Amino acid sequence: MTQSTDTTVPVPVEADWDRAPSVLEGAKTLELTPERCGLPYWFEHVASGMLGRLADGTVTSEPPTAAVTEPGPLRDALLAEFSFRHLAEEKAARALSFLVFHAPDTACLEFFSTQLVDEARHARAFRDHLLRLGVPAAELAATVEKAAGAASAAVLDPLEEFGLRVLRDNGDFYGGVLVLTVLVEGVLAPAAELSERKWRPLDPAAALVERGANMDEIRHLAVGSAVVRRHLTERPEENARLLEIIQEGRRLWAGLPMVDLLFTRESLFQQGLAEHAELIGDYEIWPGRRLVDTGVQERMEAADRWSRETQDQRLEYMLLGEAVDPT
Ligand SMILES: [Fe+2]
Ligand SMILES: [Fe+2]
Repeated sequence: MTQSTDTTVPVPVEADWDRAPSVLEGAKTLELTPERCGLPYWFEHVASGMLGRLADGTVTSEPPTAAVTEPGPLRDALLAEFSFRHLAEEKAARALSFLVFHAPDTACLEFFSTQLVDEARHARAFRDHLLRLGVPAAELAATVEKAAGAASAAVLDPLEEFGLRVLRDNGDFYGGVLVLTVLVEGVLAPAAELSERKWRPLDPAAALVERGANMDEIRHLAVGSAVVRRHLTERPEENARLLEIIQEGRRLWAGLPMVDLLFTRESLFQQGLAEHAELIGDYEIWPGRRLVDTGVQERMEAADRWSRETQDQRLEYMLLGEAVDPT
């Protein structure tokens, strides 16, 4: 990647392709508010800056390798994963419309409008990548359904139902921000970080899609938790009610077959890893650990640990540390 384009206003680190932290670091360290990340920020740093650099070709990637464009377990794993992400991002975009509707002030209305567009963009980016993998446009919907329809029904539908009960049925803005930030973004963002790292040598274009989405997720996590933190600072009597929502959401998550889903996906990846070890070479998934030496369990445990750390750190920041999982 080349240097950032010249702009009169310095590019904030979290929106800079060359300097943005990983989701894990960014989710732990960045502090951003809805006032800072309103429409002017989004137009300048996201639409013109981040997306502008994809459009002008200063941020590019190599195309997918034959390991994912030819039939085989790696292609199946990638189709399943990106189809699932496409569906998840669409659901997130739809749910965001209720946060925009119930936004208590202009800053929140603007920020969540940008997040709504971000999630719709992510849905499009994951779908477009399926086309890049050679899925014919006319077969796209059927491919997504076949690759991820059952997983979506088993995991995303119950989660969406829970979120809509809080947001649509109860009109609970802060409960909704909490559910989206901790239970949706806080779980999915660390999984996306794993995805970005593991696909990089096999499909650099897929890793770039993940990277772009992950840069947005850092902002969503940071602003969402700042909104809840401010609310609880001003209205500490809301604490018990919001804690109950988190606990209910966690009970729901615990009953969803997410582990089975990840296991199936990682098992396919593992088969492909063995077949295409020469493409991956000494590439390290994290410092000191070659991707080819990792196993299903190890990668799943890493994603699970990252997810807990991200959620716990965000909950502490939001003044909901009592919900931190002691295990
Ligand atoms: Fe997203
Ligand atoms: Fe997001």
